[in-house]
Amino acid sequence: MKVIKNICCIGAGYVGGPTMTMIAAKCPHIEVNVVDINSERIAAWNDINVDNIPIYEPGLSELVAETRGRNLFFSTDVDKAIQAADMIFISVNTPTKTYGVGKGMAADLKYIELCARQIAAVATTDKIIVEKSTLPVRTAEALKRILDNTGNGVNYEILSNPEFLAEGTAVSDLLNPDRVLIGGEETESGRLAQQALVDVYANWVPKDRILTTNVWSSELSKLTANAFLAQRVSSINAISELCEVTEADVDEVARAIGADSRIGSKFLKASVGFGGSCFQKDILNLVYIAQSYGLHEVADYWEQVIIMNDHQKRRFAKKIVETLFNTVSGKKIVILGWAFKKDTNDTRESAAIYVVDYLLSEQAEIIIYDPKVSAERIFSDLEYLNTRTNKENRELVTVVENPMLAFADSHAAVVLTEWDEFKSYDWKQIYAAMLKPAFLFDGRMLLNHNQLVDIGFQTFTIGKGQ
Ligand code: UDX
Ligand code: UDX
Ligand code: ADP
Repeated sequence: MKVIKNICCIGAGYVGGPTMTMIAAKCPHIEVNVVDINSERIAAWNDINVDNIPIYEPGLSELVAETRGRNLFFSTDVDKAIQAADMIFISVNTPTKTYGVGKGMAADLKYIELCARQIAAVATTDKIIVEKSTLPVRTAEALKRILDNTGNGVNYEILSNPEFLAEGTAVSDLLNPDRVLIGGEETESGRLAQQALVDVYANWVPKDRILTTNVWSSELSKLTANAFLAQRVSSINAISELCEVTEADVDEVARAIGADSRIGSKFLKASVGFGGSCFQKDILNLVYIAQSYGLHEVADYWEQVIIMNDHQKRRFAKKIVETLFNTVSGKKIVILGWAFKKDTNDTRESAAIYVVDYLLSEQAEIIIYDPKVSAERIFSDLEYLNTRTNKENRELVTVVENPMLAFADSHAAVVLTEWDEFKSYDWKQIYAAMLKPAFLFDGRMLLNHNQLVDIGFQTFTIGKGQ
């Protein structure tokens, strides 16, 4: 039986950082080294003030404060951490490819391959390699071939252990996961490696929630779980459009169908569209894999989830323009929320980016407030789209730290992230400051619309008839 005493995690991002912090907190007998080539990110993880760690997650800085320097260490010395480890988690980014074959769909595995080559170059003792990043099916095989062909006689076992945490609730998801999934090779040494990782999680996760499968099932389960979750959001969003033209209310429909235990109530909240680093990327990946096996009906079926999501973002932006008398040129529009969901500072694939890009193309003057996202991040998200120059973006967009000052003489307010604080704003005061008619577009069904209408607002909410 192999007992793990030293863990290395390559990649100190949204997955690696919180996951390793939890392992360190629950396994004080294991030394955990989190390494990253990004020295700024590592410096932030090591900041004396734990509130400055690079990721905002409720409860995370407290856990870092408890474990950092005890058995949790952040460093840029990748080689040293690889050498010392019994088990190496690979938790680097796997973005959608932006070039070559599979551009815009397949996962870019260059960072994973670089890690494998670095491990192969450095390791002098046997290692268990754990895929933590979301990967296309059969990546483990490629990893193994790179590692085994380096000729230094070290034995590698590859496990797939996809992470299911959601941002904003990372700490509670890690503390109390629905399940932990560990895929391993069906050989004697594969089973031993799998058991070694089961033993790590068993320090705090009940055994019956630790599922073991073969490597391929584990890799595919991660893509499938995200595809199913995203599919629910696209399904309810499709119904939201139908609700808007009938007298049905999408919240009521969601409640009614969610009460069926076969359907369940979660992930039925209509919205301006799902975002985040996983849903779109993983579905595109699934579509690409299906296509590459010639399974075109399977590919088309899942692609529809993305098509629906793009439609939802666009039609919401279009609705704003139409409602503001078919022109927003030169009109001041206040955007509340930039993160892809509340309680995170992550903005990857956030619906806000696309809605604002659309409005900017219509020459609106945009004022943005998000309680956790920096101005720098917002501008770089817009710049990444390449729709217009950075200079033009900066001329049209202002990012503010005090939303209350933003509303003066504005034509419309638009809620794009469901931050709780928006609910407690003094909407009477906001109404007084705005131009009339004062429009409010709620992309998250967050606010109390009867109250807003009583104040005098003209409101539009996703999934509700007018
Ligand atoms: C369905 C709805 O379940 C019910 O709520 C509604 O009132 C009427 O339509 P029914 O058609 O009687 O009920 O059976 P159901 O158990 O839903 O199965 C429908 C079909 O789906 C069957 O052919 C069944 O074999 C198939 N099915 C169901 C699967 O292939 N896989 C499953 O996991 C579930
Ligand atoms: C997701 C998966 O939930 C998680 O298991 C996986 O490990 C990573 O991907 P995450 O992207 O962090 O997690 O957040 P999630 O809560 O799933 O939300 C994704 C997007 O869907 C957000 O933009 C959210 O606002 C949206 N959403 C979610 C809805 O619009 N409606 C819903 O009912 C649920
Ligand atoms: P995720 O959401 O999957 O955690 P992130 O982008 O937040 O993705 O984090 C991935 C991290 O992996 C980044 O901080 C990046 O610098 C790091 N990384 C990528 N390649 C390597 C590598 N070869 N060695 C070390 N760190 C790497």
